[in-house]
Amino acid sequence: MTVPTIVLKYGGTSVATAERWQRILERAAALAPTHRVWITISALAGVSNRLDAGVDAAVAGEVEPTLTAVRDAHETLADALGLTDDERAGMRGLLQDLRDLLSGIALVREASPRLRARVMSFGELASTALGIAVLRRAGLDAVRVDARDLLTTADSPDLPDATRLLDARVDPRHDPAAADALAGSARVVLTQGFLARTPDGHTALLGRGGSDTSAALFAALVGAERLEIWTDVHGLFTTDPRALPGARLLRRVRYREARELAAMGAKVLHPRCLDPVAPQGIPVEIRNTLDPDGPVTRIGPDGDDEPAVLAVVARRGIPLLTVRTLAMWGAPGFLAKAFEVLARCGISVDLVATSQSAVSVTLDHVPDGLDGAPMTRALRELTALGEVDVLPDRAVVSIVGRSIRAVLPTLGKSFGAFAEKQIHLVTASSEDLDLSFVVDPDEAPRLLRDLHGRLFGTGHTAPWLGPSWGRLTRPEEDATPAPRWWRARRDHLLELVADAQPRYVVDLGTVRDRAEALRDRLPHVGARFYAMKANAEPAILRTVVAAGMGLECVSANELRHAREAVGPEVPILFTPNFCPVDEYRAAFETGAEVTVDGPDVLRLAPEVFRGRPIALRLDPGLGLGHHEKVRTAGARQKFGHPMDALAEMKAVADGIGATVVGLHAHVGSGVLDPNPWSDTARTLLRAREVFDAVQWVDVGGGLGVVERAGQDPLDLDAMDRALAEVEGLGDVELRIEPGRYLVSEAGVLLLPVTQVRKKGGVTFVGCAAGMNALIRPALYGAWHGIHNLTRLDDAPGEPVDVVGPICETGDILGRGRHLPTTHPGDVLLVENAGAYGVVMASRYNLRTPPEQVVLEPQ
Ligand code: LLP
Repeated sequence: MTVPTIVLKYGGTSVATAERWQRILERAAALAPTHRVWITISALAGVSNRLDAGVDAAVAGEVEPTLTAVRDAHETLADALGLTDDERAGMRGLLQDLRDLLSGIALVREASPRLRARVMSFGELASTALGIAVLRRAGLDAVRVDARDLLTTADSPDLPDATRLLDARVDPRHDPAAADALAGSARVVLTQGFLARTPDGHTALLGRGGSDTSAALFAALVGAERLEIWTDVHGLFTTDPRALPGARLLRRVRYREARELAAMGAKVLHPRCLDPVAPQGIPVEIRNTLDPDGPVTRIGPDGDDEPAVLAVVARRGIPLLTVRTLAMWGAPGFLAKAFEVLARCGISVDLVATSQSAVSVTLDHVPDGLDGAPMTRALRELTALGEVDVLPDRAVVSIVGRSIRAVLPTLGKSFGAFAEKQIHLVTASSEDLDLSFVVDPDEAPRLLRDLHGRLFGTGHTAPWLGPSWGRLTRPEEDATPAPRWWRARRDHLLELVADAQPRYVVDLGTVRDRAEALRDRLPHVGARFYAMKANAEPAILRTVVAAGMGLECVSANELRHAREAVGPEVPILFTPNFCPVDEYRAAFETGAEVTVDGPDVLRLAPEVFRGRPIALRLDPGLGLGHHEKVRTAGARQKFGHPMDALAEMKAVADGIGATVVGLHAHVGSGVLDPNPWSDTARTLLRAREVFDAVQWVDVGGGLGVVERAGQDPLDLDAMDRALAEVEGLGDVELRIEPGRYLVSEAGVLLLPVTQVRKKGGVTFVGCAAGMNALIRPALYGAWHGIHNLTRLDDAPGEPVDVVGPICETGDILGRGRHLPTTHPGDVLLVENAGAYGVVMASRYNLRTPPEQVVLEPQ
């Protein structure tokens, strides 16, 4: 197979409902055109535990309850998926095998590990037997591969069967040909997690975290481009998010760091599962099935080098053992003797600290517990060495990171968290990955909260730090951090759509505020033009003009519309692309400053440009923006003139007496990083060597707004600071031409709900308009916050997909949204709809685009 492979892993809850299978299908279908998709799945949620208990029940003579429970789980899913009898045949055949196995166990009243492994393997074999039918039904070229044919265990035959068969180890190997031999040319491969085979042919299980490890072993086997672990959370967090919702997502970490975090209790990932992929440098992404397009944690070979704190974690119920002796001072072999005792009693030790007269250790594993015989023996023997003290239930709070010792100076303030707390022991790991404190158990939660707040609270930014758990799980609550104008005007908005027609509403007060912010917070910008393509509403044009802006137009119709709205005096830039020649003529006539994309149009219609001042749009080479379709610079993009062909442009312009007085670039849209505009300015200024009459440079629009949780707003002050550092501007005027920034948050789309319908586990909330009114989600996968305006303060219910009435599969405004339980007649409000909403609406299906209502400032 020559196409690259991506391995996907789905756990038990991710395969347990029809709705979740829909997610798997979507992912597979999205990747299959360019990749082989290798899907590793677990048993349906709850089934493995049921089977494990079922073995014990069978030993006690009971078989039917287990069979009924697992049959029901699979048949219910098959019903929800609408599978036919034929499509269930594989699963039912396996159920028959399971009946035989359990009946056999019930007969002899005992179960060897070998039988237990065979019973347990039913879970994954059955989930894949149903899964393959689902994939094929969706038209995917899919094949089911038996994981046991590819994964062979590597445990020594001397190990007890319970280990060899129920907690087996498989050595990673790279052998794509072996995979191809089984998968043939199929584009999608479905296989089982957790299962392997011993060299002598018996089914074996990989133990805890086994499915992740299986997926990693397959990734190594095929040399995958990436391993995606799909689960119920977005990834690794800076602390346990269920304890502290302020926990921040870690966007990227190295294998070593991830392993440490997993070992310290990040349950999303089994520490062992990175071992197969790390040697080949295969990146691992943890992704949330419920938020497929949301942020992720990426674990890989590369990462950030600077020392950093990545997490604060707490573990509880840890025994602390101290041995004190005066004899230790200068006494050789004391430590060795103490550790020898612990080792002999099978007690493993985690943290260690020694002083001149004492050694303290936390105990990791004590066979039979603190009251058991091994511990009693150890205590007796240790007493011979000194005074022994055991604190049974301590907590360990650890700061985990990289080069943690180098971070110490910056932690200074955070150590205030330890004031008045009793610390029993402090250690730093020899790999420099963590710093641990043993404290009393009731101190731990407060200490953790305090430390976490000091280390990761709001205001802490780093490239690897993502949004908080709270923001990720309740994005509707937090999509726009600024206070939202529409909350206060809810009743009025509901009245506006009392006739059940969808409508756009724009708040002019918000437009005015944004225009004034640009005026006041960007003192290094000389002139601002509103890109009216974002929303051409006349009242908006008048509002931005009142705040000192000019307008930027891209068509003759926009020019005419602008002049009608704001009169003949307002400065207008005309920046079209491949427009008819007549429109340039019209632009000059209406007094606009005209920008061309290169010399061709001057050759085509020299009479239009002869003797005129013109501006030239350049392509700085690198496009930016929220989606590839809004990146407007770069070799394959249709905009602008290349930087390496300036002389040609100059010659053609000179030939007709046209003078280039302005230079222009717009590299993309929806940018939240404050730096690109200063970079563009520097690039444009280089062209002044050729065009010596330049009076202004226009660095474009593209100023982004926060659209969803986890984004930080564009920092206008930082943008201005970056512009201030541009050298060589002299008396050249710096211009910008934003659209979205002025109007996006000012506008909402109000959508009366037409029908609510449940299908295959998904609840669809249907609205009076969809992609015909707002095409951004369909076109760019854009996220818009959606609220039920009728029930604004009700608690969220089950997630729903919000859809429109258009006959297109892509007519979806938002998936998996946590709205309050919604009914026909309710009104949904779509946020951030002021920019590129009504202006991009269509008459598709001959539906009338929503009208736009303007609200005067209050
Ligand atoms: N200047 C030029 C030359 C442009 O092409 C654009 C936008 C702007 C300024 C204003 O960009 P803004 O500040 O609004 O980002 N329909 C897409 C955006 C396409 C933008 C096209 N050009 C969306 O809905 O995201």
